[in-house]
Amino acid sequence: MVNMANFTGSFASPSADATVSPQLFAPAGLIATVLDGFTIWKGLLTFLVAAVIYDQFKYHYLKGAIVGPMYKIPFMGPFLQSVNPKFTEYKAKWDSGDLSCVSVFHKFVVIASTRDMSRKIFNSPGYVKPCVVDAAHKLLGKTNWVFLDGKAHVDYRKGLNGLFTRQALAMYLPRSEEVFNSYNEKFLQKSAATNFTPTPWMSEFRELMCALSCRTFVGYYITDEGVQKIADDYYLITAALELVNFPIILPYTKTWYGKKAADMVLEEFTKCAAKSKARMAAGGEISCIMDAWVKAQLDSAAYREKIEKGIQVDSSEKPSQVLREFSDFEIAQTIFTFLFASQDATSAASTWLFQLMADRPEILDKVREENLNVRNGDRTLPATMDMLGQMPYTRAVVKETLRYRPPVIMVPYLVKKDFPISETVTVSKGSMIIPSVWPACHDEEAYPNADSFDPDRWITGTAEQQTKNWLVFGTGPHYCLGQTYAQLSLMSMIGKASMVMDWEHTPTPESEDIKVFATIFPQDDCLLTFRARP
Ligand code: HEM
Repeated sequence: MVNMANFTGSFASPSADATVSPQLFAPAGLIATVLDGFTIWKGLLTFLVAAVIYDQFKYHYLKGAIVGPMYKIPFMGPFLQSVNPKFTEYKAKWDSGDLSCVSVFHKFVVIASTRDMSRKIFNSPGYVKPCVVDAAHKLLGKTNWVFLDGKAHVDYRKGLNGLFTRQALAMYLPRSEEVFNSYNEKFLQKSAATNFTPTPWMSEFRELMCALSCRTFVGYYITDEGVQKIADDYYLITAALELVNFPIILPYTKTWYGKKAADMVLEEFTKCAAKSKARMAAGGEISCIMDAWVKAQLDSAAYREKIEKGIQVDSSEKPSQVLREFSDFEIAQTIFTFLFASQDATSAASTWLFQLMADRPEILDKVREENLNVRNGDRTLPATMDMLGQMPYTRAVVKETLRYRPPVIMVPYLVKKDFPISETVTVSKGSMIIPSVWPACHDEEAYPNADSFDPDRWITGTAEQQTKNWLVFGTGPHYCLGQTYAQLSLMSMIGKASMVMDWEHTPTPESEDIKVFATIFPQDDCLLTFRARP
């Protein structure tokens, strides 16, 4: 009976219900009824239903002809999947169509799988610009050059390109040799200390790559302790760069720790810039990338001064890029972007390279032989730029590693103007659009038996001619600034390691599975042991 009365009271016509009618005509009762019975719950429910319908409708409107789920999980979409992305899920997306989509909260995301679609995105700076996660602005600073677009970006980049030519790289090469020597020694000691028990080595490679970057970028302006601190804390920066973060930095969250680590790196690099300026002004030799950039600024200042004073300057004396002067902090910010861009990608590449070599001893033997030959049998000799130029097989091994396991599998871009990417699809302004690298690198037409690791395809095969598929370092105006440096570093790293060490990989069922942590790593973190070569 009670239930029945409640039921009647709630849903029957109010005027037919003696318990409700009197209240309707009393003002307080009216408000109470409206608030109680209608506005709060029904109003909220109506709003919610309308919002869900709008969310679905908008998703369908943006989706158009693009392949994607029929319906979106209300509001959040596959947010939970994106927090912990799985390689197999990306692969399923690539396999689902040339263009596929998802919508996570308010973000509509289009994923391009084919080589040609991906190239079109990379090469359409009029419609797209690189899309960095919100946290990157907080960590790198809003004024950072990597957020520049269009002409401003092209101009800034022209001033940096000269720091990465082969001629310039030859000047920093000794720094990498010193880092490899010290880490090879560390690897041997660590393995001996654990009695040659197979141990996950992924984090060791991350540390090695961080030390390599620090020494190449800022030389010995930073102490060993400073390098160690950056290497220890850098993973906090990677961990802070999740796709979706809370808009403000709350204490003790991942972004908070990431920001603290980033500020520490910036502070260290700012001190380095002041030291480099003093040393270069006193006529010091270029020892690292920071020196080269500071020297280019000093040369530009000297050139400008002569011009201002009306002194005739021969065109051969004009710097290839006339730069303005940058503050210590600006220099630190830019050098930090190099560390930021290189750390995850080079760590991924080196982890796979060591694993792949250990699993294929016959290939490692050839690398070893080539490295010994260019050193005329003296394995202690440091690698020079000339030597690296005479190592086609080691180069092929590095290229094949990067093709077989491209560290950066996708590069997020932001659509800044409605983008007609194909005859049937126009991607709306504000969407995220992601060119993919993996499928182009595993394209059977370009690379027959694409899923097998075969360095010879770069020597006797046709891999070298597949320039359109080589998207490992992107293409277009934002192509990787450090691509030559990265490949030469990997060549000299594996060459040097092959001279002084033997290493063994302990495969697990997860060794070939791919873990996505910004870039890609073996799921089991690569279990290795190292021993000194007799
Ligand atoms: C194996 C190692 C590396 C891989 C696979 C890699 C890959 C990439 C990719 C895919 C992009 C995006 C390109 C695009 O949007 O077209 C990129 C951009 C960039 N990379 Fe690398 N990278 C590597 C190492 C490095 C290193 C060592 C440095 C610095 C020394 C570096 C500096 C940069 C910079 C500054 C950009 C942004 C360029 C711009 O916006 O103009 N990268 N890299």
